[in-house]
Amino acid sequence: MSSRELAERLTSLHRKHYGRDPQVISYAPGRVEVLGNHTDYNLGTVLSAAIDKGHCFAISSNEGKGLRLLAGDLEEIASFNLEQISPMEKAPWARYIKGVFYYLKERGLEIKDFDCSFLGSIPVGSGLSSSAALEVSAAFAAQEKCGIWLDPKEIAALCRDAESIFAGCNCGLLDQFSSIFGKKHSLIHSDFKDLSVRSVAIPEDIRFLIVTPEITHSLADSPYNARRESCESAVEVLGTLLSYPVKSLRDVSPKDFEKFKKELPEELAKRAAHIIGEIYRVSVGVDALQRGDIDEFGQLMYLSHESSRDLFENSTPELDLVVEAARESGALGARLSGGGWGGSLIVLARAEEETTLLKTITKNCEKHNLAVKTRVAVPSDGARVLYNSNRENHE
Ligand code: GLA
Repeated sequence: MSSRELAERLTSLHRKHYGRDPQVISYAPGRVEVLGNHTDYNLGTVLSAAIDKGHCFAISSNEGKGLRLLAGDLEEIASFNLEQISPMEKAPWARYIKGVFYYLKERGLEIKDFDCSFLGSIPVGSGLSSSAALEVSAAFAAQEKCGIWLDPKEIAALCRDAESIFAGCNCGLLDQFSSIFGKKHSLIHSDFKDLSVRSVAIPEDIRFLIVTPEITHSLADSPYNARRESCESAVEVLGTLLSYPVKSLRDVSPKDFEKFKKELPEELAKRAAHIIGEIYRVSVGVDALQRGDIDEFGQLMYLSHESSRDLFENSTPELDLVVEAARESGALGARLSGGGWGGSLIVLARAEEETTLLKTITKNCEKHNLAVKTRVAVPSDGARVLYNSNRENHE
């Protein structure tokens, strides 16, 4: 479903439940992580892309009826009050929005008496960041409605904070950056140390395919937060051994890590090796893309997955099975995409091989009783306002 179709459906739902049309509609996409796993909160680098699926968020004013939120797919409305914000809300989908609105209000936006609604096209639990898309779409719509725009990086940070505090996952900035800064036909290279973002062109005949085992997952219930703590513990130990300041694993060179890794407890050494290796692979991957060496880029994706599986231990037997199915089917590369412990994989393919590859991967997985959903990831533009009743030109 295109963003326009999503907006049209949302408009009728909004009208049906609130008796008036939206005044503002925004859209924000989900993402795929292409290379660089768990590197964001370690102040490393990541290659990712916004995809052509996301969330639309609509707002209209109401007269003194407070803040109301309609979940378009469930056709359920939650009413809430930003004075009494609590992380344990009954409607879990409302937590993200409350968090975002709470932080926007803290920064001076007048959020009250709004009828809000949202509708998305990203399957929940598929690891394609439907929550970040929802948060970012809500932030864009609220800013447009209030006529106050914050720095997009601040928006990314406050959406991430909403997710951490109100939804329990202590994640980094990758999902929100990808949703905001996505670029059509490109990968985005984010550097979470200096917060710079640039786009990296991908050859026209290259496709990223998404394969999702039909098992849902939630990062809040996964060892994600524990892995983050392990990375922080590794930083503490390495900081006492190295002659330069170590604020994050980004500061540790692969050469120094090799020299000092034996000083770390085995588990911490494995976790840190994954992160340092991933940051290195991203830089090699960018060079490979710039040289047009797709085979090398694909190999880096396979290596990344092996590192997740063996060192960071955030893969699952199902994800490993899909990667092996992709390898057997001749894919250029494949790896888990995102937090892990479920979610989706990303497979690198040449355009002419796309259809056959998807069929063979699906068949290979079926042989092992694993049902998968497949789709093509179309690198797309990031979040935007689609409609404002006070303006004439709309997307
Ligand atoms: C999830 C988190 C991101 C990032 C990835 C792993 O998507 O939300 O912040 O840490 O996992 O790279």
